[in-house]
Amino acid sequence: MVASEAAPFAKSGGLADVLGSLPAALARLGEKVAVVVPRYRSVPLPGSPALTLPVLLGPRRFDVAIYQTERQGVRYFFADCPPLYDRPALYGESGVDYPDNHIRFAVLNWAAIGVARFLFRPTVIHAHDWQTGLLFVYLRENLASDPTFFGIRCVFTIHNLGYQGNFPATAAADVGVNPGLLHPEGLEFFGGLSFMKAGIVWADAVNTVSPTYAREIQTPEFGFGMDGLLRSRASKLSGILNGVDYQTWDPETDQYLPTHYSMLDLSGKRECKRTLLEDAGLPLDLDRPVLGIVSRFADQKGMDLVVDVASRANSPMKNAFLVVLGSGDPVLEAAFRDMAKVQPGRVSVRIGYDDQYAHRIEAGSDIFLMPSRYEPCGLNQIYSLRYGTVPVVRATGGLQDTVDLDTGFKFAGYAAAGLSGAIAAALAAYEDRPKWTERVRRGMAKDFSWDASAAEYQNLYRRPLASSRPVFAS
Ligand code: ADP
Ligand code: GLC
Repeated sequence: MVASEAAPFAKSGGLADVLGSLPAALARLGEKVAVVVPRYRSVPLPGSPALTLPVLLGPRRFDVAIYQTERQGVRYFFADCPPLYDRPALYGESGVDYPDNHIRFAVLNWAAIGVARFLFRPTVIHAHDWQTGLLFVYLRENLASDPTFFGIRCVFTIHNLGYQGNFPATAAADVGVNPGLLHPEGLEFFGGLSFMKAGIVWADAVNTVSPTYAREIQTPEFGFGMDGLLRSRASKLSGILNGVDYQTWDPETDQYLPTHYSMLDLSGKRECKRTLLEDAGLPLDLDRPVLGIVSRFADQKGMDLVVDVASRANSPMKNAFLVVLGSGDPVLEAAFRDMAKVQPGRVSVRIGYDDQYAHRIEAGSDIFLMPSRYEPCGLNQIYSLRYGTVPVVRATGGLQDTVDLDTGFKFAGYAAAGLSGAIAAALAAYEDRPKWTERVRRGMAKDFSWDASAAEYQNLYRRPLASSRPVFAS
């Protein structure tokens, strides 16, 4: 597998959670799995390099050292190239992407090819998201006659179609792809070069991370301009729901919680609520419901609806605490900061990224808000279910596939009124504690461990496929 992040080494969102848990689940099923990721500044180097590769990319040369470590039966390879990856952030700073991201991730793809040639011979290469989109182009075009790579199955997973890795056509020279491939049936997308499109076109099989999102991305509303492309590739497109890592996300064992609890004994959850209110600097009124949010502040996540509902005079949120952890869009960060200023003692906002606090919000809240505009899978609502924290979600993508009406609350249209209504319904239901506890227990009993989904990936790796090499006009 190749990706731009993997927990616990480097993480900005759910992609890392998947790369930190799916490979181990496959290993438990008997597969031999290796993962290739960049060595960012936050990743300590394990020992000495296994190999150093010269990567000749367009006019430039990069020397990439490959380090390796083992975790849960999986070999993790880190591509170390300080000029590209030794930076303060993963993708960019202050909301601006690094201008050489196409080069950074093109080099990652060649590093993965080097690993596949010298250190770990795969029968399947599973590439994740736009950062790995050129890998199969290099394999099938630049290395078409190299027998080392004959017969390798190429699987591409879309974790988020909103991030496509689109660059000007001139980037083709920087990343060493044949400009003849900049063609509507190839790499070209609105006059530029699209890494995401490359992944979709060149893979033998494409999937995304929930069945509903697999259908949605074939429509103009969710397709980000690629719905036509995806409809034309519908026969090789599927949806496989993410699993979660219950070794990391389980209130019975969670290393970050002050007290543990289970479906049978929920008393510890009340302690977690007390600790959360303390951490958040809110009054210790344990009978008042806590609404929790842990989120990237991106257009995708529906945080503008939360800001809208919270500011209404008749907002149902006025009867609850709100505890927020997130960062991203500076406009949303400011809006949440303002909200906390205007409503002290009721709203607590922490801007930033904090693993421990994320776990404590999952455990200490009563209700978790996830009103996403779109959500390929979403993991926080699944964690919420296991933590007995009832999710309020918009009925889209993986939220639709994981939250039922007997475990959570949903609304359909993307509007503040819908979110407000769903929060009001949840808060009304909270007042009937015996019934609420039954709902909490139903959510905690749901099982989203990887076993079933990892087996679906095994099928995808093995299913016989029609040839899907693109055909070019010239
Ligand atoms: P996405 O990948 O789109 O951000 P997911 O729900 O799939 O959404 O996964 C988000 C992951 O990132 C979860 O593990 C969540 O706890 C974590 N996360 C998001 N924002 C923060 C934050 N500010 N601090 C700590 N963890 C965060
Ligand atoms: C993306 C999506 C999220 C999904 C995660 C892991 O970040 O936004 O919905 O859960 O990838 O697949």
